Amino acid sequence: MSTTGPGRFVTFEGGEGAGKSTQIARAAVALEARGLRVRVTREPGGTEGAEAIRRLLLEGAAERWTATTELLLVAAARAEHLARVIEPALAAGSWVLCDRYLDSTRVYQGLAGGLGLALVDRLQGELLGFRLPDLTLVLDVPVETGLARRQDIGGASRFERKGRAFHERVREGFRTLAAAEPRRIVLVDADRPVEAVAAEIEALLVARLGLDP
Ligand code: TYD
Repeated sequence: MSTTGPGRFVTFEGGEGAGKSTQIARAAVALEARGLRVRVTREPGGTEGAEAIRRLLLEGAAERWTATTELLLVAAARAEHLARVIEPALAAGSWVLCDRYLDSTRVYQGLAGGLGLALVDRLQGELLGFRLPDLTLVLDVPVETGLARRQDIGGASRFERKGRAFHERVREGFRTLAAAEPRRIVLVDADRPVEAVAAEIEALLVARLGLDP
């Protein structure tokens, strides 16, 4: 079976160490087993140029960039990624699974970074016309658990160095977005064994995106 026509766009969001990459890999396998074509990608990044912007964003001291600069850098990377990878893949009928997308900007720069949601939404929506995902899964874990998982694999990024209070605002920010847009954004309790989380995500993909059970 092959998919024709526009594919579906599913984004995975959450704080640090929520297990997104593991769960995206699991979801990709589950969708491919149903005969769907799947493209896995990530932000910031996903194209050569956007990966260069990613390095600017993730390296260096926590205070290297202002939130406004971060907003403009992630938006620039996203414009590249959308035009060169996401839109063409969807048009070709693929399911695109993206590790972080515009809700990360709404939370990290808007709600936790202090720019506010109105400015970030105006830029990404009205001004730049970034496509909304068909479904967004927010993997929710306590800040402590997420940061500890991350320490285990080493190499903290610039955002991980921003401190506990910032990461509490990130978690709260994603919960706020999920409460405000329940049709698009679903909170998934990711403080559970990988298998249990993967099963819930597959069930959500089936129920929300019209797949055969
Ligand atoms: P990454 O190592 O991918 O984090 P994780 O593995 O937790 O997903 O690094 C991406 C970092 O960039 C992450 O700390 C969040 C941040 N970020 C933003 O601040 N704004 C954005 O729009 C995006 C996409 C990411």
